[in-house]
Amino acid sequence: MDSSYRLPTVALITGANSGLGYAIACRLIVEFFSLGTDGYPAVTSGSNTLVVCLATRSVEKAQSAIAGINTFLASRLPEGARSRLELAHVTIDLSSPSSVTAAATELRNKYRRIHYVFCNAAVVPFVRIDWATAARQITTNFIEAMTIPRYKIQGVGWLAQIQSHKSHAAGLLPELGAAFAANVFGHYCLLHEIMRVLHASASAAALETPSRIIWVGSIESDPLTFDMDDIQGIKSIRPYESSKTLTDILVLGSYLPEAQEYFRSYTTIPISSEYTPPTNSIPPIFLIAHPGIVSTAIVAIPWWQTYAKNVGFWLCRAFGSPWHCIDPFIGANAPVWLALSPHVDLIKGRKWGSACLWGGSEIILETQVDSDVAGQSGQLWSQMETLRKLWETTLGSQS
Ligand SMILES: NC(=O)c1ccc[n+]([C@@H]2O[C@H](COP(=O)([O-])OP(=O)(O)OC[C@H]3O[C@@H](n4cnc5c(N)ncnc54)[C@H](OP(=O)(O)O)[C@@H]3O)[C@@H](O)[C@H]2O)c1
Repeated sequence: MDSSYRLPTVALITGANSGLGYAIACRLIVEFFSLGTDGYPAVTSGSNTLVVCLATRSVEKAQSAIAGINTFLASRLPEGARSRLELAHVTIDLSSPSSVTAAATELRNKYRRIHYVFCNAAVVPFVRIDWATAARQITTNFIEAMTIPRYKIQGVGWLAQIQSHKSHAAGLLPELGAAFAANVFGHYCLLHEIMRVLHASASAAALETPSRIIWVGSIESDPLTFDMDDIQGIKSIRPYESSKTLTDILVLGSYLPEAQEYFRSYTTIPISSEYTPPTNSIPPIFLIAHPGIVSTAIVAIPWWQTYAKNVGFWLCRAFGSPWHCIDPFIGANAPVWLALSPHVDLIKGRKWGSACLWGGSEIILETQVDSDVAGQSGQLWSQMETLRKLWETTLGSQS
């Protein structure tokens, strides 16, 4: 057994202070400590101690989430479990490459191994509702309108806040689309920078299972919103959906021969002066799940529209839609299952969604992906690697 045997099982959750990310934290803890007999949870260190690290944009948000989680857990954990749980936090703005680098350094220094990462944080660059389109979609197909709304007007050309059009035009920083940066690229760079703690030991004495990177996708993915010539969705009128479609192709493509060259280079542990990577270790695997439809504040709308939206969600569930989970805790079912399931060969290379029945029974359904993953993943992975290296060089030259 190697020396990491008694280290805790560590889970990192981005956007853990609200909505789905907060629910993933609660659900992961409850399931981790109540699981049982069939080797579940699969990726642990053997110590039966769990560290959940909440990645948030400020310390205050993390502290308030930790207080909420402690209250939630008070009556839900079996005896003795609370002393085997540690709630930690790290501050990160995923839209800012320098903040990502700082958080990665902190995580590398804090943890020898991270077993699960939930890439959950996201933004919708929402501007307003297009009421004419809303009326048309709601009256022609109510459930579709409440599942894949085509009436969210989004900001076209919005860049990550760390840069203005001026700084990009002046050639100071490479262009970074707002939704792409927070939803995909910040996570992508973070994972690479903490790659050494994501690798499992492959020594003969302790053959460990790979760490699992659980990307949170969406049922709103749509190949029509994604353009290989604009992977950042900067020209797109639906940049959120573009980022989620990209996520599907990135994750599912990571298993295909077309992307292997890039996936291997991406998952190679970066060499540094203070760290020599082991010659033999196991890289993490990418998995993808979506929460169905849950009631959160991801789209900033007034209270009365939130109320109407929730009534609409309940009507959809009553009309038989399996995707209207509504409660984020139910939405967290599929992401948490991907982390803890022992059946890794069954879950990888497919997209899973949380679903539920009218009576509240929870199920997990495989979700069809319409993108041409085989045709696009090689090119996409190549572009992502090029962009990552460009930012690496840019930040390196500025430090
Ligand atoms: N709600 C749904 O029905 C639904 C459906 C399908 C998929 N999803 C997916 O579920 C995930 C969570 O969304 P949600 O509905 O729970 O929304 P939410 O409550 O708004 O949560 C989003 C989280 O992401 C964080 N975040 C946003 N930009 C960030 C950045 N630049 N750096 C660091 N953190 C950032 C937010 O932090 P702040 O609090 O600081 O803003 C917040 O904690 C997303 O990936 C979304 O695409 C949701």
